[in-house]
Amino acid sequence: MARSNQRKATITGIGHYIPEHILTNADLEKLVETNDEWIRTRTGISERRIEKDPDKAAAHMGTQAAIEALNSASVDASDVDAILVATVTPDYMFPATSALIQKSLGAKGAFGFDVSAACSGFLYTLSTAAMMIESGRVDTILVIGTDKMSSIVDYTDRNTCILFGDGAGAVVLQATEEDHGFRDFIHYTDGDEDLYLVQEAGGSREPASKESVEQRKHFIRQDGRAIFKRATEGMAGVAEEIMKKNKLSAEDIAWLVPHQANSRIIEATANRMGVSMDQVMMNIDKYGNTTAATIPLCLYDWKDQLQKGDELILTAFGGGLTWGATWLTWGGAK
Ligand code: UT7
Repeated sequence: MARSNQRKATITGIGHYIPEHILTNADLEKLVETNDEWIRTRTGISERRIEKDPDKAAAHMGTQAAIEALNSASVDASDVDAILVATVTPDYMFPATSALIQKSLGAKGAFGFDVSAACSGFLYTLSTAAMMIESGRVDTILVIGTDKMSSIVDYTDRNTCILFGDGAGAVVLQATEEDHGFRDFIHYTDGDEDLYLVQEAGGSREPASKESVEQRKHFIRQDGRAIFKRATEGMAGVAEEIMKKNKLSAEDIAWLVPHQANSRIIEATANRMGVSMDQVMMNIDKYGNTTAATIPLCLYDWKDQLQKGDELILTAFGGGLTWGATWLTWGGAK
């Protein structure tokens, strides 16, 4: 394992936001032709959370997660240098959700921007923030993954409506000279438009129109089977690649923190890495796929079990296509 004493970025605080309303598989049986057994065995999902309040969108959820993360790190909002937000469900096309969160937090000294990388958004954003800190130009960054997927899910489409839920997770990333924190990443993009995982209308190629609404083009659509194949290859492949690159063996890894899209993709990834399912963070059963929020939500749910010095592999795959893996050593944030 490569070690160095240079300035690193480490997670010092963690927060989350999960809406109260629970949408169960039984509820979905009333909306589309599906059943609890099919959903659980094909995806691992039993229920997901839905933000019912139309005034509470991605920025609200991200702000709540950020407040908890700042408290956990004992960092004042006025000391935040930057706010990076991963989302595919921003409150507006612009201004950026990071700007809305900056205002709600009163983080007067912070600049911010959004990253659109779908389910890989949190990992792309974390890498960007880590490199900004390693450069020595900034010290404290809020990295937030927030998605109100229910705002773009078509609840008449059984191929997608069973999969997604709403949620947000946030971490505070700070500079450290100690031997923990962010160590390495590998990211990939393949802009193959034939592989459908898309919200077709509402952008500059097809602005909102009567026709686009009637054709339900403002909702997410995906070719599940094709994406499943690529996601399994992508996540398992890149997780194995980052281990090989850094000479990490399965025994070195304390936890696998995978994007939560399908329990079968997660199991294939763990299998390829040679880690047992006891070392895998998996909460897809209760939250479904919350897109940019899945990885910080896992870190939040497992924070009491994480020990300082634990080696973590984070990995994700999503629309774009985008995928990647991150290696970090846990610094002890609670
Ligand atoms: O996070 C972003 C990346 N996204 C992903 O990683 C998602 C990747 N894809 C998947 O997780 C899976 O492909 C799904 C869960 C979406 C679908 O599972 P699958 O095992 O690939 O099913 P399938 O699409 O091959 O469909 C099998 C059958 C089909 O019926 P026929 O053609 O065999 O008669 C579907 O029409 O299951 C049917 N089906 C359903 N049945 C009950 C599809 N959706 C449902 C449903 N309930 N909700």
